[in-house]
Amino acid sequence: MARAIECGRARDGPCSVSSVIHNPPMCPSIDDFADCPIFRSSVSRNSPMCPSIDDFADCPIFRSSVIHTSPMCPSIDDFADCPIFRSSVSHTSPMCPSIDDFADCPIFRSSVSHTSPMCPSIDDLADCPIFRSSVSRTSPMCPSIDAATRRGRRAPVVGARAIDARAMAPSTRSSLEAIAYSRGSLVVIDQLALPNETKAIAIASCDDAWTCIKEMRVRGAPAIAMTAALSLAIELNDSGRGFKTGADVEEYAKKRTARLKTSRPTAVNLAEAMARVEDVARRMRTSDAASAIEAIVSECEKMMEEDVKACRAIGAHGAEALLAACDAKDGRKISVMTCCNTGSLATAGYGTALGVIRALHERGRLEMVYCLETRPYNQGSRLTAYELVYEKIPGTLICDNMAAALMARGKVDAIVVGADRVAANGDFANKIGTYSLAVNAKYHGLPMFTAAPVTTLDPATAKGEDIHIEERPAIEVTHSLGQRVAAEGIDVWNPSFDVTPAALIAGVITEHGVIEKDASGVFPVGEFVAKVKGSDIIARKASFPSGFFALNCETVLDYALSRGNVAAVLGGAETRNAWTAKEIGDGNINFVYIITGASPDKCVIVKQGLPYVRCVGESWPLTQERVRYEAEALIQAHMFCSAHVPEVYVYDAALAVIVMRYLEPPHIILRGGIIEGKVYPRLAEHVGEYLATTLYKSSALAVGGAGLRRARQAFGQNEDMCELTEQVIFTEPYGKADNNHWTTPQLDDIVREIQSDAELKRAINALKEKFMTEGQALLHGDLHTGSLMCTESTTYAIDHEFAFYGPMGFDIGAFLANILLAYYSQSGWESCNGDDRSNQREWLLGSFKSTWDVFETRFMQQWNEQGVRDDHGSLSPVAHYGAGVQGGADALEAHQRTFLRKVWVDSLGFAGAKMIRRIIGIAHVADLEKIPEVEVRARCERAALRCGRALVLGASTLATPDSVIEMVRSTPSICEYFRRKPEQ
Ligand code: MRU
Repeated sequence: MARAIECGRARDGPCSVSSVIHNPPMCPSIDDFADCPIFRSSVSRNSPMCPSIDDFADCPIFRSSVIHTSPMCPSIDDFADCPIFRSSVSHTSPMCPSIDDFADCPIFRSSVSHTSPMCPSIDDLADCPIFRSSVSRTSPMCPSIDAATRRGRRAPVVGARAIDARAMAPSTRSSLEAIAYSRGSLVVIDQLALPNETKAIAIASCDDAWTCIKEMRVRGAPAIAMTAALSLAIELNDSGRGFKTGADVEEYAKKRTARLKTSRPTAVNLAEAMARVEDVARRMRTSDAASAIEAIVSECEKMMEEDVKACRAIGAHGAEALLAACDAKDGRKISVMTCCNTGSLATAGYGTALGVIRALHERGRLEMVYCLETRPYNQGSRLTAYELVYEKIPGTLICDNMAAALMARGKVDAIVVGADRVAANGDFANKIGTYSLAVNAKYHGLPMFTAAPVTTLDPATAKGEDIHIEERPAIEVTHSLGQRVAAEGIDVWNPSFDVTPAALIAGVITEHGVIEKDASGVFPVGEFVAKVKGSDIIARKASFPSGFFALNCETVLDYALSRGNVAAVLGGAETRNAWTAKEIGDGNINFVYIITGASPDKCVIVKQGLPYVRCVGESWPLTQERVRYEAEALIQAHMFCSAHVPEVYVYDAALAVIVMRYLEPPHIILRGGIIEGKVYPRLAEHVGEYLATTLYKSSALAVGGAGLRRARQAFGQNEDMCELTEQVIFTEPYGKADNNHWTTPQLDDIVREIQSDAELKRAINALKEKFMTEGQALLHGDLHTGSLMCTESTTYAIDHEFAFYGPMGFDIGAFLANILLAYYSQSGWESCNGDDRSNQREWLLGSFKSTWDVFETRFMQQWNEQGVRDDHGSLSPVAHYGAGVQGGADALEAHQRTFLRKVWVDSLGFAGAKMIRRIIGIAHVADLEKIPEVEVRARCERAALRCGRALVLGASTLATPDSVIEMVRSTPSICEYFRRKPEQ
């Protein structure tokens, strides 16, 4: 509706911003309005304030009249779709206690006259959003809708189905409201007009909402999300749309949410709200249209209710957190600094950061709030200041560039701000200027918090630099309230937000409590959300039993579109039509899609875990919690070792989905490359580094005892997958089990031998106990040559679904076992294919040794870099090994040697167990299994089984990688045997 043309006054006058808005090309000249009754009335109704036509530029009612007239509305019938016109037909309200209350309000006076002959009496104004807003905009003379209601006038509920925003949460709504909603009517306060005018905008469609959000008439992360959702509720409520089925409703809703999501990109609340609506629409796909509409509309209405409650809880948690951080005892009051507007106007009521300030005030603990004006749109001076004055909260306005000076004078105790998106590591985007505040706060030693509902937390975005920062038009900087304030011709950079690194803040205040840094200095946002949302999902499932749905090649594209950062990787939402998806999962459990975006190099992987085993179906349920374990382990491993772990873009607990980086060709699964006879010269260096870094950084050596305990508890046990490991590695191969199979009859004798070897079984049992009880570090849990993707120069670990806190040697052993299994398979391939694999054999043995050597070196390096540490949880405490302790340095070195020796022995034991199970147990390796000649294969497997047994039993005597290699080389030379065989 707002196509820009220049009107006469706009070209040179200061009102060019609004004139662009209210002079669309549909209205080429004032003459075109001649037939419009509303325009005619607007002329008269603005008379005291608008002595000449030029003065209408600032008149909101005139502006709206321009929009809803034009040659395209030549007769009264053509106004049928115009919400403002419709409301103008009935234009005042019983909520107005008496006409005298408005005596001093020019807009009200004009509203009385602009109700037109079609508004026969004042009672007929009940439904008019413009009138309702005029009631509040006339303050202080007009006591406000609340005051009117208190005086016992009729409640603002129209009709049996009406849900007024106040009625939804009567005790928790504050009197300032950015959004007024009742079924069929949505009105927002124009936040660009505040505080000079309290002008309402009726939202009759998603397009109206889109425009309001884009133009920042509605702003603030939660308010944007709710306006968008409620605008869809309004459209769906319009019974004229003729939906026949739930599927029609879903299709329509999806189109609208896709559009709404494009209005503003940074605040994740919008995408989150739209995803929530889409979820409900999907669930209701098979119901009738009326039920689907009812479900979606109710979901949107619920968001308002939830937001007010969330803000109240944020206020309570935040007030406590700030007082504690300032050590404000004995009722001492504190002074708090904030920026932008995070109050009633940015939410459904009460506010987030401003909610914390309100809560301090309510508790009598607020000395002063310093609000920054917040250029360029002055949300601080216009909106926050307005809220503070309105609620008589002690407030002082400062310009943005005064913050540091005020801190230096000791006037500020703490800082609290809002957030538009909080990434997995606690970095957060908020109004531009927040980052400077954080840097200044750090310098002055002041605690700074961000306050946001859980809907603002986005664990799928790993870190701050992945957040899409909206850039806005230059005019917002060059002009202030319509006046040019910058020299013509100057270039402008106008980012709407900046990113504050997590390291600079003390906590993230949410309605479920405050997220604080763990011992390693990281905010566990992902874990927090998974916990909180986990319980939400359970609650939602109760009312929507069919809540989860499996993606397919079509819906996976919409899903990608709904995730801003994924859409960006694919080339941007606007390229959606070019995207394609293919299911490429070849496992038994999960679905894996590859989405190709705007060009072949723009791809992502989407992995979805069903609540049951894929190849069996619902009759074999499987917990989807495994996807959370996989996502969290991947995210943490990527954080520790980004060179060897792909990035996760999204983890969606509700749908058990992980969206992650596509490892582009020529990456292939390492096992496949080895079978083909390839060598990977940097494999050992990379895997050694991956193991050293992920194991060291997640261990007590790095995070201390308390940190490890907290991390283990937060991560959980991955019970199902651990139980599976205990079964298939440490139990079944050593007895009778249906799952066992081997190359029979060739290996029957050696399998019998193994299964009756009491010493071996005791050793396996000791390894099992270690696996069950030693939570040293966060492991991959299944690190084999099938879970590594490589090129000659790169290596990435994937598939962390078995991740758990276990003994370090389990991961190292798993990899070493696979290298040895590959080694033993070489002679088989050589024999069957007739090629010479001696080069590859040497490379594999060399990799066995180098993997351990790199691991040991890098692990020690990290330990030494950290040095001795003086805290009780430390494993290298100053008291034992510090500089002043006699022989301390030597003792530390001896301690480190013992530690690593134990890891080496564990690794060999686990490697042996893994080798045995891959030949006798349920799951074999293709390296051996695919050797086409059974006799050849059996001989390779026999040699590998012997090696495995020797590793388990001899782990503590095989002191170095060289001693293992020597043992391997000295086993009966099967390579020689096979080379000779054809001649025999
Ligand atoms: O551009 P805006 O005004 O929408 O920016 C708003 C902010 O940055 C707020 O701090 C944030 O959205 C939180 S509002 C509760």
